[in-house]
Amino acid sequence: MSDEFGQEQAIRKLAPGKLVIASHNSGKIREIAELLGPYGIEPISAAALDLPEPEETGTTFIANAELKAMQAADLSGLPALADDSGLCVEALGGNPGLFSARWAGPTKDFGFAMQKVWDGIEAKGPDAGHDAHFICALALAWPDGHVEAFEGRVDGTLVWPPRGDKGFGYDPMFVPLGYDISFGEMAAEKKHAMSHRADAFAQLVKAVF
Ligand code: IMP
Repeated sequence: MSDEFGQEQAIRKLAPGKLVIASHNSGKIREIAELLGPYGIEPISAAALDLPEPEETGTTFIANAELKAMQAADLSGLPALADDSGLCVEALGGNPGLFSARWAGPTKDFGFAMQKVWDGIEAKGPDAGHDAHFICALALAWPDGHVEAFEGRVDGTLVWPPRGDKGFGYDPMFVPLGYDISFGEMAAEKKHAMSHRADAFAQLVKAVF
């Protein structure tokens, strides 16, 4: 991070203690709590504090993660961590990207969302590639407005039909580079060690602890 004169500023460290996880997704909160356990962090969910879910109006994953973390830190008076993630398909110009959750519709039907992705690729013709990547942005904000952000990525190829029933979201159609099984077929510990979220967390842990 650099200041108004372009000078590099030191990354702010996170002291042991309470940290608001600015998410209402219990699976995400459990995963984050486990990752932060070894660092003396006491996670509190945004739902437990009755914090509202802000509208994701940012135009990047980092902007959305930052706005969620900053609002939670401001309202709670505690440091807060938020994540924003999605699947970016090269043949679809990066879509669904920021709209990954929204493509599943109000019933969160990811069978429907995956079909929409595949149909979109097919509609581009026989030469359309199947390359895609997942992005995970993590933002850590303090009540004084300071924020640190990190972005993780994992590259892969999309397959059809979807494979496996592990994981969530678009996992069954995503085969990470160097593997021949999809995230939907991969054991959770293995996915969590190599995913876009793991990449972003590794950067965060290295920088703020
Ligand atoms: P968010 O809660 O706005 O960050 O929504 C992220 C959306 O991106 C999720 O609903 C999933 O559809 C998709 N997504 C993010 N990470 C993953 C992943 O690891 N596997 C499968 N889908 C993911």
